[in-house]
Amino acid sequence: MTIERHKVRMATRMTACIAALLVVVSLSACKKQPSFTGKWAATGKTLQNGEQEKGILDLKQEGDQVTGTVEGLGGKFPVKGKATEAHLELWGADWNDPKPFLVADLNDQTIQGKQWDDAFTARPATDADEIKKPEYIEPPALHPVPSNGLAKTPPMGWNSWNLFAEKVDDQTVRTMADAMVSSGMKDAGYIYVNIDDTWEGTRDANGVLATNKKFPDMKALADYVHSKGLKIGIYSSPGPRTCGGYPASYGHEEQDAKMFAEWGIDYLKYDWCSAGTIYKNDKLQPVYQKMGDALHATGRPIVYSLCEYGLGDVQKWGPAVGGNLWRTTGDIRDEWDSMMDNIHKQVPTAPDAGPGHWNDPDMLEIGNGHMTDDEYRTHMSLWALTAAPLLAGNDIRNMSDTTKSILLNKDVIAVNQDPLGKQASPVKNGNLETWVKPLKDGSVAVGVVNLDKAPANATVKAGDLGLKGTAHAARDLWAHKDVKFANGEYSASVPPHGVLMLRVSAH
Ligand code: GLA
Repeated sequence: MTIERHKVRMATRMTACIAALLVVVSLSACKKQPSFTGKWAATGKTLQNGEQEKGILDLKQEGDQVTGTVEGLGGKFPVKGKATEAHLELWGADWNDPKPFLVADLNDQTIQGKQWDDAFTARPATDADEIKKPEYIEPPALHPVPSNGLAKTPPMGWNSWNLFAEKVDDQTVRTMADAMVSSGMKDAGYIYVNIDDTWEGTRDANGVLATNKKFPDMKALADYVHSKGLKIGIYSSPGPRTCGGYPASYGHEEQDAKMFAEWGIDYLKYDWCSAGTIYKNDKLQPVYQKMGDALHATGRPIVYSLCEYGLGDVQKWGPAVGGNLWRTTGDIRDEWDSMMDNIHKQVPTAPDAGPGHWNDPDMLEIGNGHMTDDEYRTHMSLWALTAAPLLAGNDIRNMSDTTKSILLNKDVIAVNQDPLGKQASPVKNGNLETWVKPLKDGSVAVGVVNLDKAPANATVKAGDLGLKGTAHAARDLWAHKDVKFANGEYSASVPPHGVLMLRVSAH
């Protein structure tokens, strides 16, 4: 082989290589980056009433950032998230949740993955997927709804949502009512047995809303709960659908209220959710007033619990619509950060709490297993100090002795139920937060929360408690022992995320 021929062969080979390389480069340049931008229709799960839930994701991707909304039968919420190539993770933009609610991958124009723990599949949406809104109903002009005279102290009871969610049924509620009595909760003051979302069936041609198969006879269930000396609560929404996507009271307020009264319902939680797709926040008050009027018109004493996550300064107009309590926050989770976040969020509402009208930082998670015993004692103490409703959210049929000792601490419950009805506010000093609640008999309850993950030494100074006179007698409400102030001070070690809770009286 001559050098010339070798050179030619080498050159040919190199040209071929470069050509091949170019094909690869241009192929990868042509390969389209997957994009989540667009409207996607998800196949929702089948609801307990046989209806099919729907879901529309309306997304916009810029770089790896994704924004948009998620809409279901229960309402429409802003979302934010991150896309890494074909992988998507989405969070509720307003939910302050550490975990994404959707984790999925895009493959061949299908998004597939998990929404919470359920399988999730979505394909490009068409016009037929649109979630139809009912006709707009103008809410009434404002007027004060007469007070029902209920909830002179914060309501106490149990609610199905935190632990059971859509799994609650007639049998669960009956056995909870039994356990309320046998566990001593009823004697401690827990009276309401509240059914949350997912009891609803469908509405018939006459507008009558049936129960679904989990609740075959609501009147009989109410009679059973009443036979135990307890009261029963139910749940609906001012929108066309509840948060879970079930039929709700929009346009049927009077009819539903009448039916609740006929069943013997004593408590209604009324949850905004899909009402937000029909009304702007400036209509919150008249919309809630409509159900307040409807409950009043039944003549039955029914505690009215507004659930709209603190929108539109509800604490300012809640009493005027007949409300006895109102949520001030989003949903609690069984985690320290979520619990503390909720209690801190309702600090600005403190001046508006009082007998008959309470701020509600959401239901208790005590006993649900994801916080330490010290954290649960702090949870109970803070709800007591802030005069929050005490609605247990655990399985009260199977409580550990520690859970019982927390939920049934009579001294702490007495602080919550104090007739003066004051909501404590915190004063922060490093990692210690001190909450003081004046009580009717002139004494005060004080809680020092250790925000640190290490033990801390807490000092309560009598002079900071607003007592009239010098500190005289003090009791540690968790150690169940009397303690002494020396030189106007009392000090104790507080465990990580724990609390020192005292009741202090003066001469
Ligand atoms: C909302 C409420 C919860 C619960 C669910 C039921 O999220 O804030 O407390 O009632 O709806 O769907």
